[in-house]
Amino acid sequence: MTRVRILTITIIFIGLVFFSNDIKDMYGETQEFSNLPKAEAADPSIDARSLYNNKCMKCHGQMGTQKVPATGLELAGQAKEVLMAKINGYKELRYGGKLRGVMSSQVSGLTPQEVNAISEYLSKLK
Ligand code: HEC
Repeated sequence: MTRVRILTITIIFIGLVFFSNDIKDMYGETQEFSNLPKAEAADPSIDARSLYNNKCMKCHGQMGTQKVPATGLELAGQAKEVLMAKINGYKELRYGGKLRGVMSSQVSGLTPQEVNAISEYLSKLK
């Protein structure tokens, strides 16, 4: 029994090492998010707070401060344009780490106006 347990722990540990390296590589590319053109102001008729609370809060925390797994990044306080680029990247399957499938399905139904409004809301949370 002990041997099985040690083996399991070793496998999980090796898995974690691989997993975190992979994430780091993917997120090493975040520099490409500098010099983004300034986004238009959000449509005031969209209730971004409710949208966020309904669709995102359970994983990202009430104030957007829950750290994203394995990256340590919080959503709150990131620049609006960067958040928009990342969310659109998930929508179009060209951004993210190992868990990007989880995110893509969360944001695939958002309209461009909703992406803009949620990003503005999050950028001002901190
Ligand atoms: C089921 C849990 C879950 C929900 C719900 C969720 N997310 Fe995520 N989110 C994640 C995970 C996991 C990641 C990391 C994915 C990866 O590996 O790239 C992530 C990453 C992100 C990132 C990238 C962070 C960064 O700086 O790289 C943004 C932006 C984001 N989510 C926005 C949202 C928004 C906006 C919503 C709501 C519309 C949402 N998420 C809903 C789990 C979730």
